[in-house]
Amino acid sequence: MPGKFITFEGPEGSGKSTQIRLLQETLEARGLNVFCTREPGGTATGEQIRNLLQHDAAGEPLSDRAELLLFTASRAQLMDRVILPALENGDWVLCDRFIDSTMAYQGFARGMDIPTLDAINDFAIGGHKPDLTVLLDLEIEAGFQRLESRYAGTNESHDRFEREAREFHHRVREGYHRLAEREPQRFSIIDADRSIEAIASEVWNAVQGALL
Ligand SMILES: Nc1ncnc2c1ncn2[C@@H]1O[C@H](COP(=O)(O)OP(=O)(O)O)[C@@H](O)[C@H]1O
Ligand SMILES: [Mg+2]
Repeated sequence: MPGKFITFEGPEGSGKSTQIRLLQETLEARGLNVFCTREPGGTATGEQIRNLLQHDAAGEPLSDRAELLLFTASRAQLMDRVILPALENGDWVLCDRFIDSTMAYQGFARGMDIPTLDAINDFAIGGHKPDLTVLLDLEIEAGFQRLESRYAGTNESHDRFEREAREFHHRVREGYHRLAEREPQRFSIIDADRSIEAIASEVWNAVQGALL
């Protein structure tokens, strides 16, 4: 593929959206074409699925398996319609959450079977894994404190995942570490309990080291 594909992962409030914006600026300043997207969502179909997943928009609780397949349906649509065409075009694609979120949330936190999830993920992305995955690692409590300040004074409310128990989120974080151990070549783990600028500079070092 002529383009490069970078995904950002990490617990709630770890700074994924913030760091994607900054990396986009850095890459664009070097004259590269950058396309940023997010999961679930990133396509018209995916954004409708996102609404179902995050806010129980259909008015009934989702079963674990239905949840898993909705996430991966959104991912397949994003991959086929947006990410692969952009990579073929030579663009850099930055994606806020991807396959590893499924493994961390549905696998390690909900307890669904890991080999099954691997197979479903592979099917959804046609085997095309990210070139680099930046894992922003942060204590769960610290991430939630950041979210509280982000929500303060807005009418935004916590989504279905943010409302899960803290124990759930600890399993997510631990799961991310297991995933990084499994594929150390693809992952770069970054301590996200620092200033936005310090993290951005480490993200940039990781990108340069792995891809430039
Ligand atoms: N390194 C940081 N230190 C302190 N606050 C941060 C840092 N990075 C992001 N934030 C703030 O924390 C909140 C969550 O960051 P965000 O990038 O939205 O995280 P995520 O996308 O991973 O949920 C935002 O209000 C953001 O401005
Ligand atoms: Mg975000």
